[in-house]
Amino acid sequence: MIDKNSIIYIAGHNGMAGSAIWRTLTAKGYHNLVGASSKELDLRKQKAVRDFIRKTKPDVIIDAAAKVGGIQANNDFPFDFLMENMQIQNNLINEAHRLAVDKFIFLGSSCIYPKLAPQPLKEEYLLTAPLEPTNESYALAKISGVKLCEAIRRQYQKDFVSLMPTNLYGFNDNFDLKSSHVLPAMIRKFHEAKENNNAVVTLWGTGKPMREFLFVDDMAEAVVFALENELPDHLYNVGTGKDLTIKELASTVRKIVGHTGDILWDDTKPDGTPRKLMDVSKMHNMGWKHQTELEAGIYKTYSWFLENIENFKQKVY
Ligand SMILES: NC(=O)c1ccc[n+]([C@@H]2O[C@H](COP(=O)([O-])OP(=O)(O)OC[C@H]3O[C@@H](n4cnc5c(N)ncnc54)[C@H](OP(=O)(O)O)[C@@H]3O)[C@@H](O)[C@H]2O)c1
Repeated sequence: MIDKNSIIYIAGHNGMAGSAIWRTLTAKGYHNLVGASSKELDLRKQKAVRDFIRKTKPDVIIDAAAKVGGIQANNDFPFDFLMENMQIQNNLINEAHRLAVDKFIFLGSSCIYPKLAPQPLKEEYLLTAPLEPTNESYALAKISGVKLCEAIRRQYQKDFVSLMPTNLYGFNDNFDLKSSHVLPAMIRKFHEAKENNNAVVTLWGTGKPMREFLFVDDMAEAVVFALENELPDHLYNVGTGKDLTIKELASTVRKIVGHTGDILWDDTKPDGTPRKLMDVSKMHNMGWKHQTELEAGIYKTYSWFLENIENFKQKVY
């Protein structure tokens, strides 16, 4: 049984997803949380992972650690993305199994689903058609993690579960324009343009593709839900179930930031997949639903960005 005294190891607790999970668990009174940075514990090293889990004796492991990157990095370094992610999750899953950890929650992403799968994406579409080639390595690593958790449930009746969040945004997001996702990139671009006498903001593509976004603290609530309930299946999508065009997203971010200049859509740049929306009915049927609507989440994220702007300056400006 999991309770507030359970020892919970959050792998990747400094990242955007991991830090939200840590914050949410702490707020709910879980007080035996364990974490280690990649400098303290390289999760690619099997013996180090074994020693760490032996020493800390977690009741639960939440795997929010991964080598993540944008399209360019995924495309340029397929071996690294496949190998390192498999090493990280294999070590965690195997040691959790060997050392009899009660519960394991594995985080993946919507890229596990086929490139041309029908929309919205249902869990059952996994492995029904080819993947998006640019992030195939990352997706394959994540699929193998999902399959390991499924296999361990079937063979050993263990409570290992995989959650697949849609695009996340929120506190501790990456605002480095070279590697950031679309929403934090827009926040930074509109903010800098506002500071620069409302200069024109150039955005990639036509603005027509549709995307779904989930506030990262809502994803953390889904993890807590999976922690506190024994879910009957091995794989669940986590999102809002609602999407909007990139143009609509831009106009919302622009309004919140207070930019009044023009937007230039650079349609020489690729649009990517026309639509990517998760079917979240399985998780809704279990009793979890997101709480933060997009506009409220962007307000919170922009406030956090303003409070922390000095830190980004050192890191990425
Ligand atoms: N961001 C999204 O939009 C999104 C959407 C869907 C799913 N997800 C999933 O959420 C998970 C976390 O993503 P994120 O956005 O939070 O990424 P992130 O901010 O880059 O965090 C990743 C974390 O993994 C840790 N890590 C990486 N390599 C490691 C290693 N070799 N040893 C130990 N720790 C290592 C890093 O630790 P250090 O900081 O200590 O180096 C970092 O804290 C991933 O599985 C991702 O697929 C994210």
